[in-house]
Amino acid sequence: MNRAKNAPATPQALSKLPLESRNTFGLPSIAELAYEITTPDQLPSLMASILGAGLVWRVLGGGSNVVLPDNLPGATLLMNIPGHEITNSNEHYTEVAVGAGENWHEFVAWTLAQDLPGLENLALIPGTVGAAPIQNIGAYGAEVAEFIKVIEAFDSQAQAFVTLRQEDCCFAYRDSYFKQNPARFIVTKVVFKLPKKWVPRLSYAELAKQLIATPAPTAQNIFAAVCKIRQSKLPDPKIMGNAGSFFQNPLVDASTYSKLLVSFPELISYPDTKGMRKLAAGWLIDQCGFKGYRVGPAGVYEKQALVLVNHGGANAHDILTLAKVIQKKVQERFGVELYIEPNIF
Ligand code: EPU
Repeated sequence: MNRAKNAPATPQALSKLPLESRNTFGLPSIAELAYEITTPDQLPSLMASILGAGLVWRVLGGGSNVVLPDNLPGATLLMNIPGHEITNSNEHYTEVAVGAGENWHEFVAWTLAQDLPGLENLALIPGTVGAAPIQNIGAYGAEVAEFIKVIEAFDSQAQAFVTLRQEDCCFAYRDSYFKQNPARFIVTKVVFKLPKKWVPRLSYAELAKQLIATPAPTAQNIFAAVCKIRQSKLPDPKIMGNAGSFFQNPLVDASTYSKLLVSFPELISYPDTKGMRKLAAGWLIDQCGFKGYRVGPAGVYEKQALVLVNHGGANAHDILTLAKVIQKKVQERFGVELYIEPNIF
């Protein structure tokens, strides 16, 4: 693994660092103290001093799944650990170890350029490699959890590095052991296992439709199709601030689902494990007429009701006020509670 050369054991503290360009919502936020993390070796002494001083702390990766407040107290660790390399290859898998600070999409593109298919359905998801397992990113019929072998992290509770196997990570829909234990782990490296036997995943209707004229699509074809769909449906954060899906698709039990179906026969949903049903939150919000709706500078994206956007000058308060209006209306109309997907710091 290529590590930053001559990185100091303890990084320099950056005081009152503006984070507006470091979060995809483009929210104004000032970090009281920030530290660039470029190698895991910096973490033991830095975390000892942060914890010793009783400071609150958090990790910021690509800033693509966060709602940052105007002032961020304590310590913010800017995850920048680089590097990716093939570490093992056997008849079943190729293993690739990747630094937590690598850009997710660039990593996916790199695997395909190495002729290592598997991650193509997860193309163009914003953010870093280290953040991907925390909320178990997923799209177009794939979830990152399936491709993870082990995760290396610094455990701030034990003040030691730990290695968690995939089965230790309690992965579920947009959930993991890391998410269930906030302010505990700092992911430093993710080791992926990419199966040698590649099977295209086209279960997602929109993706299959996009590839209708390509009878035997390659991983590159799927990668290109996913990029095309995402670009057409999701706003580019460089042009319009956003954090992707703002709400999770809510899970309801079978009896709630059948009752809803009587009142709303058009309801869009997907089967889930243990007889539960996953409802399309975008559809629920859309049915309440929210597409294009605005509360000041915060708005609902006009092409996809699940995405909240910053029309310019919004702060965390504006975004969360809009989110509450949506949650209330969806609760009143469907009796369903919507949970916010990004981390609210
Ligand atoms: N829908 C509407 N109106 C809307 C939005 C959606 O009627 O405004 C309907 C769609 O027509 C579709 C259904 O709701 O039938 C589901 O919508 P879509 O296919 O766009 O997917 P999604 O459920 O909104 C999820 C993930 C996305 C992921 C896509 C593709 C969640 C919360 N979101 O979106 O993930 O890219 O599927 O797999 O699970 C993210 O997490 O940030 C994210 C973008």
